[in-house]
Amino acid sequence: MITEILKSSLHSIDKAVEILKSGDIAAVPTETVYGLAANAYDDEAIRRIFDVKGRPQDNPLILHIDNLEYLNVLAKNIPEIAFKLADKFWPGALTMVFEKNDNFSSSASAGLDTIAVRMPDNKTMLEIIKKCGFPLAAPSANISGSPSPTDAMHVYHDLNGKVPLIIDGGQCECGVESTVICFTGAGVKILRPGAVTAEQLAEYVQVSIDNAVLSPLDKDIKPLSPGQKYKHYSPKAKAVLVSGDYKAFNKYVENNSDEDTICIIFGNEAQKPVNKCLEYGISGTEQAHSIFKCLREVDQLGAKKVYIRCPEKRGVSLAVYNRLIRASEFVLIELS
Ligand code: TXA
Ligand code: MG
Repeated sequence: MITEILKSSLHSIDKAVEILKSGDIAAVPTETVYGLAANAYDDEAIRRIFDVKGRPQDNPLILHIDNLEYLNVLAKNIPEIAFKLADKFWPGALTMVFEKNDNFSSSASAGLDTIAVRMPDNKTMLEIIKKCGFPLAAPSANISGSPSPTDAMHVYHDLNGKVPLIIDGGQCECGVESTVICFTGAGVKILRPGAVTAEQLAEYVQVSIDNAVLSPLDKDIKPLSPGQKYKHYSPKAKAVLVSGDYKAFNKYVENNSDEDTICIIFGNEAQKPVNKCLEYGISGTEQAHSIFKCLREVDQLGAKKVYIRCPEKRGVSLAVYNRLIRASEFVLIELS
């Protein structure tokens, strides 16, 4: 199959709509990461997403909507607070998990009786959903397990020959995926931290953070979100997260590296521990924006090992930390 990459335009939007209406899949930009979209009502198209990504069958997909009227079609027993959060954060990087409406059946939910929904904040994506007239099921448009795509070329690298169309909407604004929450009696629980922060949510609702966000899942515990089970976001190189100050980091890396080692550092640090260093920024927003790009560059540079300066565990950095601790399979070197 030939994969066409078209810049976002009226023409490419119409082409995507035609493809999606015909039961095929297409890669589309969102403000978080690129998505691989299919008609949420078309089980055959959704099966293609799972096949193309190599995605585990039990890992459900997020449904993307362009207006609130879909909520009652897809979900039931929607808590009042959900409408308030939708009002504050949609369109945006917040995904809410609801009880699934009994009349709605879709293999996007991978057999669960819940359904995850978000309204993305990207004009191209919203226009495509509107013109399709159905919600779009869309996971990140990468091969399962690899770093999420924040640029059309990342999608092309992973899915060339496997999808008919990639719409190039430029670099994704946020660079990390949406925040996934579910509702508890008292408030909400963060199942995956993302571009909408715990601190922002806490202005409107009581927020707790699921244990699996920061720690490996206990083997006996069924995860609240199937995605928490899997190794994710990993470059081919072995990733090692290193916390501690700059001097300690440099010393550790100098003592534990060879010519195939590179580093991902913050960016305000003049002296570099090894020749090859990538910088992913100082603020949480910068780090979120660059982290997946850096992880992909590590492999392009042919590194065998990458030491990564550990981000903070608050604000958007919590999302970056969550991706990196998974990319490094929970290997964290803590230096004092
Ligand atoms: O920003 C995003 O969320 C991007 C863009 C494309 O919208 N999408 C994305 O999709 O990151 P994906 O499939 O890569 O990650 C979705 C996460 C997975 O960890 C999945 O397990 C979880 O959401 N999820 C989906 N449905 C769920 C449900 N019903 N209950 C709990 N977790 C769910
Ligand atoms: Mg993903």
